[in-house]
Amino acid sequence: MRILVVTIPLLLAMGCDLDDVLTTDTEDIELVTQGKGIYDEHCIGCHQADGTGGAGELAADFIADRERLAKSDFELLASIRDGREGAMGMMPPWKEILTPYEMRAGLAYLRAEFGD
Ligand code: HEC
Repeated sequence: MRILVVTIPLLLAMGCDLDDVLTTDTEDIELVTQGKGIYDEHCIGCHQADGTGGAGELAADFIADRERLAKSDFELLASIRDGREGAMGMMPPWKEILTPYEMRAGLAYLRAEFGD
């Protein structure tokens, strides 16, 4: 709790909208549309147009593995931002390449297109 008391005002003082940092919104059509552009440019090579990651050969399979997108926005945005190494290989971090808004957009598109 104490850490939140310190961190939240700090983030706000830095000009970050908390919602921008921690969550995404699949109801935001503009965000989802921009997310498709991000996905097509940066993500599709591994995750593929159908979201299967080549049946999990290249990347996480969002279609067969429903556990993936069942994770929270917070957790998935952290994976996108910092990268993730797991049984399927390594996803590079995106924080040097995409803005927080673009990462939220990418996740909004993933959820809208491949989520429940
Ligand atoms: C170089 C290939 C590659 C690219 C490009 C790539 N990913 Fe991934 N991604 C992976 C791999 C591999 C995993 C699975 C890692 C693991 O085993 O947990 C993954 C997993 C994920 C996950 C699930 C993370 C979790 O916590 O389970 C999300 C969400 C994701 N990627 C989103 C994206 C987005 C958005 C982009 C484009 C901005 C992107 N990926 C681009 C390879 C890639």
